[in-house]
Amino acid sequence: MKRLDKLIALNCNVSRRDARQLIKDGEVTVNGAPALRAEELVNEESDVISVKGKTFTSKDHIYLMMNKPEGVVSATDDKTHKTAVDLIPDELSRKSLFLCGRLDKDTTGLLIITDDGAFCHEIMSPNHKVYKTYIATLAYPLDNEAISALESGVELSDGTKCLPAKVKYFTDNGEYKCELKIREGKYHQVKRMLYAVGNRVDALERVAIGGLELDRALPAGSCRELTEDEKAAIFAENEG
Ligand code: URA
Repeated sequence: MKRLDKLIALNCNVSRRDARQLIKDGEVTVNGAPALRAEELVNEESDVISVKGKTFTSKDHIYLMMNKPEGVVSATDDKTHKTAVDLIPDELSRKSLFLCGRLDKDTTGLLIITDDGAFCHEIMSPNHKVYKTYIATLAYPLDNEAISALESGVELSDGTKCLPAKVKYFTDNGEYKCELKIREGKYHQVKRMLYAVGNRVDALERVAIGGLELDRALPAGSCRELTEDEKAAIFAENEG
């Protein structure tokens, strides 16, 4: 059983306050009778709920894009640090959420968060070939030898061999930058790959997952639901 205002917020993509207003305005019915109280408990499986005359079916899953800020950890629960999941507003929150690929505390950018474990697995598994695109700000220029090593699959200092990456080196306002596309998610992978070729990452941002780009209009620390087109774009770029 769930509170009526919470269920409306979750399923109609409105805030809890807007959901309560809809109930006050007489726009909501439960099993054909006007709903009177926001705190009424309803069964999402068996009760028929209509909002503005439209019956909604409970959404199976939620899919969020977050622009992760610096200083929060990519975890669902942490005793000492603020987590990405702590930043999700109530109306978008669900019980069991997965982060589709973690970012370090100091890494910013695109995080996909969902309660659909299979979807998350499709994004994360290297076999599914969904590339994650990062922009790294580097301490030093990147020479051709380093680029070739990254492109052919660099070996990390502990002997781990990485899959080939796609690399574009450029400068931006005098800063050394590199766009790196990888399809694995090893611990500190980008930082360790660049360290393995004699460089150092001073800042890191994830800007895309597959064909889904970070929405630049989304302020750091905010999240929103993905559209169906955006969900499809994640897998549209897959190779082979
Ligand atoms: N690689 C890293 O080194 N850090 C991240 O946060 C993501 C990829």
